[in-house]
Amino acid sequence: MGFCPRCPNAAGLVEVAAAARTPAIAAPTPLPLSKASDGDVSRIATGMGEVDRVLGGGLVPGGVILVGGEPGVGKSTLLLQLAGALADAGGSTIIATAEESAHQVGLRARRLGVAADAITLLAEHDVDAIIAAAVEHRPDLVVVDSIQTVGVAEVGSAPGAVAQVREAAARLIRAAKHHGFAAVIVGHVTKDGGIAGPKLLEHMVDVVLYLEGETDRGFRTLHGLKNRFGATHVVGLFEMAGTGLAEVADPSAVFVADWQGSIPGTVIFPAMQGRRAMLVEVQALTAPSPLAQPRRSVRGIEVARVHQLLAVLARHAGLGFGDQDVYVNVVGGIRLAEPAVDLAVALALASSRLDRPLGALAAWGEVGLAGELRQVPHGSRRSEEVGRMGLDHQVYPGAGGPRRLIEALQSAGLKAAATGHE
Ligand code: TYD
Ligand code: MG
Repeated sequence: MGFCPRCPNAAGLVEVAAAARTPAIAAPTPLPLSKASDGDVSRIATGMGEVDRVLGGGLVPGGVILVGGEPGVGKSTLLLQLAGALADAGGSTIIATAEESAHQVGLRARRLGVAADAITLLAEHDVDAIIAAAVEHRPDLVVVDSIQTVGVAEVGSAPGAVAQVREAAARLIRAAKHHGFAAVIVGHVTKDGGIAGPKLLEHMVDVVLYLEGETDRGFRTLHGLKNRFGATHVVGLFEMAGTGLAEVADPSAVFVADWQGSIPGTVIFPAMQGRRAMLVEVQALTAPSPLAQPRRSVRGIEVARVHQLLAVLARHAGLGFGDQDVYVNVVGGIRLAEPAVDLAVALALASSRLDRPLGALAAWGEVGLAGELRQVPHGSRRSEEVGRMGLDHQVYPGAGGPRRLIEALQSAGLKAAATGHE
C-alpha cells in the first residue's frame, strides 16, 4: 500500500535495510549412545552404611545431592558424620558453613568424635568463593550448609530469596560437574514459606534426600526421593543419640521392642520402607469424651485417613465413636503414608473401643469407603518380616483372606462387633 492505513500520517513509512543473516552456528556432532558411558559410574563409598544404601552405593563424582529437612532435624549432624566416615575411608571434604561459625562446627565435631584433617571448614557465604576453594583444594566432597544462607554477588536479592537460591545452586551444580567433585547441598524446609525451600531445587540436582522425623523423638529416616544413579524410595533409619545419629540395623526389633500384645488398641503393621519391610506398632486409644466435639488426635499418619476409618467402622461394623475421644499414634515417631496401614489402624481402633486385646497380631491392607478390603503391594515381603519376628497371626486381604472389614474384625477375634449392616 505504501502507507500504514492505521496511522493518521500516511507518509510515515521509513525504509529499513534487512538485517544481515546471523552467522551459521557450527553444528555439534551428536554422540552415539553406545559411546556415552564407559561402564558403571565410579562410586565413593562413604562408609556410612545406611547413607550408602540410600544413595545406591555411595557418592558419585560430579553428582549433586540435595539434603532437605526441617531445621533441627539433624542435617548438619548427619553430614559432619558423613564427612568423618569419608575421611576414615580416605576421602576429603570441605564443609562450607555460612550458618554456623567454625567454632560451633568444631564443638559439634568434638561431640561426635569426628576429628580428621581431611575435613576442612569454610565460613563463607559467597558461592563463587566456595567454588574457587573447591577447585584449588580438590576435595572429594563439598558440603554447602545451607543453600539458603549462601548467595551470588551479582544477584541483588538477599540470601534465601528464590533468585539467589536458584542461581547459587546452578553455579554449584555446574562447578561440580565440570571439576568432578561430589556436592551436598543442604536445604531447610520451612513451614511459613518465607524463604525458598529445597522443592525449588529438586529438578536441578541428581539426588534428592529428605531427613525426617519428629524432632522431639529419637528416630530419623533418610528418604531417597529422586536418584539419577540408583533406586528411589530407599529409606535409611537412624536414631539421634547423645553422640549423633546412630544407624539402626534391625528397625523391626527396635520398633516392636516395647510392644505388649495383651493391651487393647495395639496392632503390628509391616510398613514398606523402600524395598524393606519394617514392623511398627500402631496404637489407638478411645475414651468417653466430655466434649461436645470429641477430640481426634493423630500422630504418624494422615488425620483424614483416621476420620475415614472411623466413618467406615461406624457405618459398616456398627462401631460408633461419636461420643469418644480418639487418639492414634505410630510408635517411634515414624510417619506412614501408605494406604496399607488402614486395616491396622481400624483394628487398633476397634480393639480399644471394645476393650479387647488382639494378642500377637499383624495386619495390613487398604480399607475402602464401602467397607471392603483392598490388597496392597509387597504382601510376601511383609508376611516374611512378620514371620521373622515370630508373629504368626496375620490378617490381610488376599487369597483366602478377609474381603470386608467386618470379616477382618471377626478373624481378629472382635466378633461381638459384628452388629453392623452387613
Ligand atoms: P542439627 O544437625 O544442627 O540440625 P539441622 O542442621 O538439620 O538444623 O541437629 C540439631 C539437633 O540434634 C539438636 O536439637 C541437637 C541434636 N543433637 C543430638 O541430639 N545429639 C548430637 O550428638 C548432636 C550433634 C545433635
Ligand atoms: Mg544445620
